[in-house]
Amino acid sequence: MLEKIQNLIDEVKALHAKNAEEAESLRIKYLSKKGSISALFDDFKQVQPELKREVGKKLNELKTLATDRINELKESFAQQQNASTGVDLSLPGTSYVCGGRHPLSIVKNDIIEIFSRLGFTVAEGPEVEDDWHVFTALNFPLEHPARDMQDTFFINTNPDLLLRTHTSSVQVRMMEKQRPPIRAVFPGRVFRNEAISARAHCIFHQVEGLYIAKNVSFADLKQTLSYFAKEMFGADTQIRLRPSYFPFTEPSAEMDVSCSLCGGKGCGVCKGTGWLEILGCGMVDPAVLEANGIDSKEYSGFAFGMGVERIAMLRYQVKDIRLFFENDVRFLQQFKSAY
Ligand code: DAH
Repeated sequence: MLEKIQNLIDEVKALHAKNAEEAESLRIKYLSKKGSISALFDDFKQVQPELKREVGKKLNELKTLATDRINELKESFAQQQNASTGVDLSLPGTSYVCGGRHPLSIVKNDIIEIFSRLGFTVAEGPEVEDDWHVFTALNFPLEHPARDMQDTFFINTNPDLLLRTHTSSVQVRMMEKQRPPIRAVFPGRVFRNEAISARAHCIFHQVEGLYIAKNVSFADLKQTLSYFAKEMFGADTQIRLRPSYFPFTEPSAEMDVSCSLCGGKGCGVCKGTGWLEILGCGMVDPAVLEANGIDSKEYSGFAFGMGVERIAMLRYQVKDIRLFFENDVRFLQQFKSAY
């Protein structure tokens, strides 16, 4: 028995194979259930007890040797195959590059979400609008500068058609199709004939809001916008309303929020004032309600409109509005985790 084992040890040491298939047949010949080494393990049962220790040791030595040698042969063929195909199968795989939401979409969705908690629904209107919805129904006087070609893109073939300059036009569409109470926000893209710079673009986004019901007061407007500001910019945020003018609201105001960067102390971002302007608002002018067939003695309302780019620039400290439209992945990638 010992001699048999020794012979096999010598044989195994000298094993060679030309390819992976030959290496596999060697494994079958020696190590499979019916292989010669397995057969010796069966014979081992008949070995006399006093010899078992020595024979057993030798037998295990043979098995280890054969396993190592055959694995070594197999591995060498696997490596050769890698070299010939140029594919290293042991390398980790490549992961997929995953896209993310655009920062303007993130901010727009957040605005909508905050107002939806107060019961505001969402509606949209067309980007190519007529004079009535953008200007006339919103109480713009005929000589208003926004009606000038310098400020508004008109459609050449039809002087009544233009690219909407604000999403306030969707207020009108909403009043046409729904009777009060109305409580909705209108997100969308707007267009203005402006020179493109770090601060201004000819295409940008707004979210408009409209609330019309019985006994809606300026206090309701203030509380709604204060809630929005705290949800958007942080619980410590203060708001300030400055008197302003818009044709479609009376009284009108512009709203500032306390600068979240310096906490209102004054810094470069708020230009030392401690305040940042974020939106226009006011009580819907009775003339607008009447132009849209709503009895201004029965109903009152408030409206507001904000720029999505402006809020995104403040929130993410983006210094140049053009970055939002260039689609440079190095810029966009920074917002990936901010879903
Ligand atoms: N439409 C205005 C703009 O584009 C923003 C605005 C101001 C909307 C006051 C309103 C409002 O609803 O009440 O500048």
